[in-house]
Amino acid sequence: MEKLVIRGGKKLEGTIPISGAKNAALPLMCTPLLTDEPVTLTNLPRLADISTLSDLLNHLGVTITIEGGKGGKIRGRSLTFSAGNIADTVAPYDMVRKMRASILVLGPLVARAGEAIVSLPGGCAIGNRPIDLHLKALEAIGAKIELENGYVRASAPEGLKGGTVRFPFVSVGATENILMAAALAKGTTIIENAAREPEIADLAKCLNAMGAKITGAGHETITVEGVEKLHGCTHDVIPDRVEAGSYAVAALMTRGNILLEGAKAEHMQAALDVLTEAGAIVSEEENGVRVKSNGHLGGFNIVTQPFPGFPTDMQAQFMALAAVSDGASVINEAIFENRYMHVPELSRLGADITVSGSSATVRGVDKLVGAPVMATDLRASMSLALAGLVAEGETHVNRLYHLDRGYERLEEKLRQVGADIERVPT
Ligand code: EPU
Repeated sequence: MEKLVIRGGKKLEGTIPISGAKNAALPLMCTPLLTDEPVTLTNLPRLADISTLSDLLNHLGVTITIEGGKGGKIRGRSLTFSAGNIADTVAPYDMVRKMRASILVLGPLVARAGEAIVSLPGGCAIGNRPIDLHLKALEAIGAKIELENGYVRASAPEGLKGGTVRFPFVSVGATENILMAAALAKGTTIIENAAREPEIADLAKCLNAMGAKITGAGHETITVEGVEKLHGCTHDVIPDRVEAGSYAVAALMTRGNILLEGAKAEHMQAALDVLTEAGAIVSEEENGVRVKSNGHLGGFNIVTQPFPGFPTDMQAQFMALAAVSDGASVINEAIFENRYMHVPELSRLGADITVSGSSATVRGVDKLVGAPVMATDLRASMSLALAGLVAEGETHVNRLYHLDRGYERLEEKLRQVGADIERVPT
């Protein structure tokens, strides 16, 4: 086991290269299940979640080769995925329980192989997270769904048939699953109230490069004209807007100046708007987005929403920012019911936070003081690392495996801009 040791108080200045997006890469890695030709993904991040999904894909019969020698370069790391044959249509519990995004194999598997048996992922640290919308959407395009022994069996021996799917509320994963499945269905599928996250548009772009006929991705209504066969392609994964947003918060909290190299402002506008309100000067440059402090840190209010609203995946990091901003901030978590696991840990560092239902009031304090902390999920762990960057003395962030799921070379990137941070064995 390892932990991060952070000695706070350093102003962060310089450039941080932004990696490929975890939440774009995971659905993209499921697209090779739809074709017998190789799919190459470039700019894949090196993360524990990517390895976890790779293991599951291997189990299903996908061979994975690393392009570019020596494990690939940091930017532009490429993997080629080939699913000549589907060797197994069962995604077992032991693999799925490690990562909920494993459910994304369900749609592609049933579309290509006519059957998929995938373990139900169960709840997780941030909420109940059911998959009912994924299942209803697949039913709407002709899959027969049965639940037994903790597994979902989706079958469509005669193939899927286009239909209309209207989501009662926005789900990123359910939109991705139906998009992949509908690409190989007979006829046209209309997806209404679809998620509009940049990761959805990226997935549709890759599927279209494979020969799919998808229009409207990135908007509320997506139309998918099913095709008989998809082919291979090469696709570049978009930059990680949550990683970029997290380092933007670090720039502001430490009153520094960081160029987020490769980041795209249009993918993170809601977060940039709040940063500006809190005291950041944000500018788009040729090779990324620059965030620097205007010398003042003020409070702000946020409500998490589906894209283009303020992302739930940035809520914890902005709470760390609010903890050291002047005045009071109010944060409302409207996507997940239990995403405040960082509150008691931030409080241990001296933050003043009161939670009432889905709303948290954060009163800025003059200073945070280092302490050992740990969190039970990825973004919560990042909020603790951010707090550690400004806390007096040493902060030890335990359970580092959460951060390794979603932040590539975290301590290296932060050290590069002047942070005093190291990874040590516990
Ligand atoms: N929901 C249902 N039924 C469903 C699906 C979702 O009730 O069938 C609920 C969820 O419980 C939640 C809400 O709908 O309350 C939204 O969930 P969504 O399906 O959009 O989330 P997801 O696809 O499971 C992705 C990201 C999450 C991110 C959410 C919301 C990936 C791999 N994960 O999850 O990322 O928080 O969208 O934007 O893309 C993270 O990176 O830290 C992370 C948790």
